[in-house]
Amino acid sequence: MGRDAFTAFGPGKVILLGEHAVVYGHPALAGPLPLGVTARAVAARKCALSVPKRLTGAKRKLLLEAFERAASACGHPAVSVSLESDLPLSMGLGSSAAVSVACARVLLQAAGRSVRPERVAAVAAEMERVFHGTPSGIDHTTSALGRLIRYRKRSGRPIGEVRAVDCPKPLRLLIALVGERSPTRVVVAALRDRRERWQSRYVRLFAEIGRLVEEGRTAIESGDLEGLGDAMNVNQGVLAALQLSSPRIDQMVYRLRRMGALGAKLTGAGGDGGAVIGLFREPEPAVARLAKDGVRCFVAQLAGPPAL
Ligand code: PMV
Repeated sequence: MGRDAFTAFGPGKVILLGEHAVVYGHPALAGPLPLGVTARAVAARKCALSVPKRLTGAKRKLLLEAFERAASACGHPAVSVSLESDLPLSMGLGSSAAVSVACARVLLQAAGRSVRPERVAAVAAEMERVFHGTPSGIDHTTSALGRLIRYRKRSGRPIGEVRAVDCPKPLRLLIALVGERSPTRVVVAALRDRRERWQSRYVRLFAEIGRLVEEGRTAIESGDLEGLGDAMNVNQGVLAALQLSSPRIDQMVYRLRRMGALGAKLTGAGGDGGAVIGLFREPEPAVARLAKDGVRCFVAQLAGPPAL
């Protein structure tokens, strides 16, 4: 690579427990995926993004607006940035956060500034606000830190309260895609309306999700994968009660459990489709069976020693 070229990676993320409740100040657990977005920057006359050709109309405009925020936060270094992604888009796997972190990192590098994760997360937050309006920050924080974390939002701050979470055993997930879904901001807004209407019940259910997150974290730290799986199953039940699941999601959840998952649930915003995660000691046989039936799925290890 030339002296004036830079490359940076932003991983996608998976929320293990606590989505949606995290928007209301409860903790959540999330870890990075091996898939993500790579940003490349080469010297140019001015700071610009070359937008992937398949992006048109409103999505193109949004990406350019988000990039301009990050470019401005980094002092507009004179580079042209291009993007490459192997992450499924709009599936609850943090694709916009991965774009934000990859752009933030490469622009900071090109500007000769610090690429400490906190700095990267602060610049990425500028982009995420364009994509999502009022995100909790869990997506870009997990992507910037690149490890399993317990996250809690702090109002008015670009990066929330973060605590590293370790597991003495391999924590391995099967991630299955179950189809198109509405944008996160639409699902979050509809839930906000329901919460306003039935406040005391919804507040109670969000608090329950927060408790499941803490129980799940304790289970992870003591290597109790069965305990974590049970917390995931109950979390799925509460998400379904909040009208965030769907027949397609439910079918995959039950299928993964029948195939031996210790726990299974939707991940991310949910709604009509998106991604479903299953916790397995050995996910490979289930991946092979699902792939044979045409289901898009893959394995990710979120924490713990390498699986043998
Ligand atoms: O955009 P997704 O599907 O990865 O969902 C993000 C998680 C939410 O809790 C639903 C929203 C947020 O801002 O935390």
